[in-house]
Amino acid sequence: MLLNPPIVTIFFAAIAIAVPSPQIKREAPALPFSTEGRDIFDSNGDIFQYKAANWPGHQEIMIPEGLQHASVASIVSWFPKFGLNSVRLTFAIEMIDDIYSNSTNQTLEKSVLNALGTENGTVVLGQILEKNPEFTKETTRLQVWDAVTKELGSQGVIVHLDNHVSKAFWCCGDNDGNGWFGEKYFDVEKWIRGWTYIATHAKENWPTFASVGLRNEFRPASNSEPIDWYTWYVHMTAAADAVHEAAPDALIFFSGLSYDTYIDPIPLGKTLNGTSGTSTANKTAVFNPSTFSWSDKIVLEIHKYDFEATQNSCPVFKANWYKKGFQAVNASDPETKYLFPMVISEWGFIQNGTYWNQTTYNKCLIEMVRDYQVGWMQWEISGSFYLQTRPNRVPQTIQGLEEPWGLLNYTWDGVRDPVTVENSLSKMIGALN
Ligand SMILES: *[C@@H]1O[C@H](CO)[C@@H](O)[C@H](O)[C@H]1NC(C)=O
Ligand SMILES: *[C@@H]1O[C@H](CO)[C@@H](O)[C@H](O)[C@H]1NC(C)=O
Ligand SMILES: *[C@@H]1O[C@H](CO)[C@@H](O)[C@H](O)[C@H]1NC(C)=O
Ligand SMILES: *[C@@H]1O[C@H](CO)[C@@H](O)[C@H](O)[C@H]1NC(C)=O
Ligand SMILES: *[C@@H]1O[C@H](CO)[C@@H](O)[C@H](O)[C@H]1NC(C)=O
Ligand SMILES: *[C@@H]1O[C@H](CO)[C@@H](O)[C@H](O)[C@H]1NC(C)=O
Ligand SMILES: *[C@@H]1O[C@H](CO)[C@@H](O)[C@H](O)[C@H]1NC(C)=O
Ligand SMILES: *[C@@H]1O[C@H](CO)[C@@H](O)[C@H](O)[C@H]1NC(C)=O
Ligand SMILES: *[C@@H]1O[C@H](CO)[C@@H](O)[C@H](O)[C@H]1NC(C)=O
Repeated sequence: MLLNPPIVTIFFAAIAIAVPSPQIKREAPALPFSTEGRDIFDSNGDIFQYKAANWPGHQEIMIPEGLQHASVASIVSWFPKFGLNSVRLTFAIEMIDDIYSNSTNQTLEKSVLNALGTENGTVVLGQILEKNPEFTKETTRLQVWDAVTKELGSQGVIVHLDNHVSKAFWCCGDNDGNGWFGEKYFDVEKWIRGWTYIATHAKENWPTFASVGLRNEFRPASNSEPIDWYTWYVHMTAAADAVHEAAPDALIFFSGLSYDTYIDPIPLGKTLNGTSGTSTANKTAVFNPSTFSWSDKIVLEIHKYDFEATQNSCPVFKANWYKKGFQAVNASDPETKYLFPMVISEWGFIQNGTYWNQTTYNKCLIEMVRDYQVGWMQWEISGSFYLQTRPNRVPQTIQGLEEPWGLLNYTWDGVRDPVTVENSLSKMIGALN
């Protein structure tokens, strides 16, 4: 879809200062990627830094959001226009489970109608097909993913595939069933089976597929396997083995505990303990990269939001956060046992024109990226959702919900808030060499 010239003019006027010569189309960096020490390298030996936005595809309909408002090509075109080189696409294991069971629910028609009901679903399905005439009612979810990733490839956008949830709905809450191994929806075998399937498929079909995030935001659960680093080690290394076997070129991202807010035991080489009084009592492991066949594929990921509305000075903000895992990228820290690349795979805040400087979060985050030279993935491109189900909210489901944190506006055809883009996203881009 062509953009209307005035939009482009206004938009670039707003970000021209911070983003040097944004290119509409760019060549993707040379794949595959690999890691050495604290850095990610492309196949030419150049350091690669993720500058990404999240584009969720893990919610109820299980296809990337926004397609009732805009075509795949026009949504993808926002990535290079914002100066981004990559996307974190999120998916649900339920999508793969449905493939294994040959479920008839995989067509666009069934996916949309099951999620939104016959009346509203019919309207939204019609909008999706109107904006994206290459699809039909019978197009499957996976075929939609293939079309999205093909377009990302042709616009030079690197694809990072994140397993966000098992059961497809908004992530994340304590005890929502998706949070920890063995919880209500988090079947470990299906998770690993799902990774084998989708990593194989992505390797064979998605031109710029480069990396995976094994699982988003581990968190407390009251009914699950024991919540400890030993359990994390056992299942994460098994999933990494499966991904590596299916797609040996892919980087593999490891997220930490407590909503992925800390991962320091890994670079510090700590003993990963089980929990006394449970099946993991007295069990220990150490995450020693040299023992894995995927030792040059490991990336650590961490999330950072501003839920405490911080007013900390940046030296305090940075020192606190450093201890949560940035030792991984500091070879001169004597406590660092293993160096790994780090990526801030989620950060973001409301795009309303003022929040960017109501707290010190935005300023200090930019400094953190400048000081430590780590890639990042903004939450999120979406201007709105098909549907959002949150277990602990009334009403539990809302159709067509606005996303005030989105880079794009409700109709996915304009920038929600150029002032925030200028003072946040563009400066995050500028913070990387
Ligand atoms: C799904 O279909 C495939 C191919 O037709 C078949 O081999 C497989 O047994 C089916 N699986 C289920 C669970 O029905
Ligand atoms: C299809 O989805 C409907 C509605 O969610 C569900 O009741 C049904 O069991 C599903 N069918 C299959 C084959 O998964
Ligand atoms: C595991 O237990 C040992 C011994 O108590 C302790 O030194 C280590 O810090 C623990 N590991 C973690 C990740 O807390
Ligand atoms: C764990 O180790 C303690 C101390 O050695 C021992 O008393 C206990 O029986 C062990 N528990 C299990 C489940 O092996
Ligand atoms: C890296 O670690 C050293 C030693 O602890 C410390 O002096 C230095 O400030 C750290 N570098 C950064 C950028 O935090
Ligand atoms: C932006 O959001 C913040 C946090 O909710 C709020 O305090 C502020 O008033 C909002 N700004 C505008 C212009 O609405
Ligand atoms: C936030 O930015 C606005 C617009 O640039 C400015 O007027 C205001 O003083 C800033 N507030 C803070 C706390 O820096
Ligand atoms: C169906 O769509 C209408 C109009 O957008 C909306 O008001 C209504 O809440 C939707 N129904 C459900 C069940 O969300
Ligand atoms: C989004 O931005 C575009 C371009 O400025 C505009 O045409 C459209 O009306 C906006 N949508 C909303 C919901 O504001």
